[in-house]
Amino acid sequence: MILQNIKIFAHRGSKGTHPENTIAAFQKAAETGADGIEFDVHLSADGELVIIHDETLDRTTSLTGYVKEYTAQQLKTGDAGVKYAKEFIGERIPFLGEVFDWAKANRLWMNVEIKTDKLAYEGIEQKIIDSIRHHKMEHRVILSSFNHQSIEKVKLLAPDLERALLFEELPDNLEQILRDKQESGFHPDKNSLTEATNELAKTLGYKIRPWVANEEADVIKLAKMGVDVIMTDYPERAIKTVKSLDSNG
Ligand code: G3P
Ligand code: CA
Repeated sequence: MILQNIKIFAHRGSKGTHPENTIAAFQKAAETGADGIEFDVHLSADGELVIIHDETLDRTTSLTGYVKEYTAQQLKTGDAGVKYAKEFIGERIPFLGEVFDWAKANRLWMNVEIKTDKLAYEGIEQKIIDSIRHHKMEHRVILSSFNHQSIEKVKLLAPDLERALLFEELPDNLEQILRDKQESGFHPDKNSLTEATNELAKTLGYKIRPWVANEEADVIKLAKMGVDVIMTDYPERAIKTVKSLDSNG
């Protein structure tokens, strides 16, 4: 079977093997030959763009409490590797500008998830756009969010940037939403994506990038469905799986 240009994005970096949303996890993704990385962005107390998944620091770092209550300087004292494994002690909580600086040495796509589904983070969309422009990353980023109002804001502020709608459970009026929004990316939970939905989104011109497929069977199923990107915590494994499908016919 020839799989046309199916791409592998490392979810929160190579999250399955490295501490999520750290430069170490992104570097591993680059080394394994992933096509892209996905990561999450919040705002610090002093308005800096912080790369972390949760609104709070407790699960993944040495700090406690809300990200939004720490200044960037304070966040720099946190350890984002210690909770994952001893070998990653010293890994820092990255900032968006640092990720873009790091990305200058590779050609990875970057799916920037704007984490405004639980907290509002006033002005985060413009700050992300400014950082993208400053680092000249326009051609390598896809901005996504579960909060579709954030995507609307990006559309108004920077219509040239690639955007995507994130969904967990798919709503009954999905077709209407996809038709009305006219965005370019459809990012569903892999468990909610059916053949019919995949075909519908494809027909409406969307790129389909489901998340998060870690089991081989799921990677094979999505690859055969013909999605554009598979997001996974184990990019190395997924790349091998997709390659074997290609070579086994
Ligand atoms: O962007 C896809 C996926 O990352 C969304 O879920 O919870 O991992 O941020 P979550
Ligand atoms: Ca995410």
